[in-house]
Amino acid sequence: SIHRVWARQVLDSRGNPTLEAEVVLEEGTRSRAMVPSGASTGVNEALELRDGNKARYGGKEVGKAVQNVQKRIAPCLQGQNALDQQEIDRLLRELDGTENKSNLGANAMLGVSLAVARVAAAALGIPLYRYLGGTGSALLPVPFANVLNGGAHSDAPLDFQEFMIVPRGAPTFSEAIRFGAETFHALRVLLRERNLGTGLGDEGGFAPNLSSADEALELLCTAVERAGYTPGKEIFFAMDPAASEFFDQSSEAYVFRKSDQRRMPAVHLVEYYKELCGRFPLISIEDGAAENDWEGWRLLTRELGASVQLVGDDVFVTNPEFLRKGIAQGVANSILIKPNQIGTLSETLETVDLAKRSGYGVMLSHRSGETEDPFLAHLAVACNAGQIKTGSFARSDRIAKYNELLRIEEDLGKNGRYGHW
Ligand code: PGA
Ligand code: ZN
Repeated sequence: SIHRVWARQVLDSRGNPTLEAEVVLEEGTRSRAMVPSGASTGVNEALELRDGNKARYGGKEVGKAVQNVQKRIAPCLQGQNALDQQEIDRLLRELDGTENKSNLGANAMLGVSLAVARVAAAALGIPLYRYLGGTGSALLPVPFANVLNGGAHSDAPLDFQEFMIVPRGAPTFSEAIRFGAETFHALRVLLRERNLGTGLGDEGGFAPNLSSADEALELLCTAVERAGYTPGKEIFFAMDPAASEFFDQSSEAYVFRKSDQRRMPAVHLVEYYKELCGRFPLISIEDGAAENDWEGWRLLTRELGASVQLVGDDVFVTNPEFLRKGIAQGVANSILIKPNQIGTLSETLETVDLAKRSGYGVMLSHRSGETEDPFLAHLAVACNAGQIKTGSFARSDRIAKYNELLRIEEDLGKNGRYGHW
């Protein structure tokens, strides 16, 4: 049973404060977990509690969340069975008592929730992915590697936030990592040749001087070929426009503020996606419409949902209620899963379960502000999600997840599979 729970403030990959929780069991087993943080956050995400004192870390300290762990969560969980994750998470929600976790803070709750799962696995002496998913968990996820960063993640004049390479045609996970990393290196050479800049964005992708999706995807095609692969054979593409970030609510139009100021209603944006899908091997578009443009989302799904994976991030915020509404209304055909959008592990798993039962795809995801904690790698395998989005092939906060998946691949041995979702 749980003996001690506490937390501390550490830094995330952007140098902003975040929370790390630690749990010790009666018999001495000890584990910890760190919480990531988004930049293009959905309005309906659970609340990330920050202190707000502008004189310190620009108001981003998490001292209140840390105090909530020490003073309120710790006494509540002391003596509880760490193996009963559902009950732990129920107690956390009951103690918080709000819909959006604004009382304790979703960062305080998630840190503890994840640390409890990890200490339970450690106490049983089994890998975290197997503890969470059982012996049926054997699917290594296809990486969606964000190699070009725009939108809220970089200063590039690109309105779409993410351009990903997807080595779906690789025979194994480790080969997928090689195909992806080689393409990333070819991309660097290409950017240097063209004087486009090789600086990196928040998720380890390049943030070059490109100003349209066409240019970005053309560049990726060339990089894939230079690396010795064929676009649409070994390596496919995916985008996260993160359309909530450039939707103008008052005029109900999408405005390309970072590049050419073009303004278009949802119908034209969907036509643009269609054209891009015709020209490039684009297999997945995330947040192609804004979180509060459900009409645009329905249109997008009607027009492209049969041939392209449409992933809901901001629109679902890992919340079973929003996903249920989306399923009923024919919105998207896949969901992005970010545990800190909802605030507990059990609710995250509930959302994954609902998505799978409803025939929706599932993609596990990092945040743009990450940490070295590789929990997400275990969660992706535990859920047999088949897809993970955890950044480029640079920056150790991103690589930590890939490296953990390489270890899991080795651990699974012959039982491991890759590439189907
Ligand atoms: P965020 O971006 O972590 O900044 O929200 C990731 C995403 O939009 O998928
Ligand atoms: Zn997104």
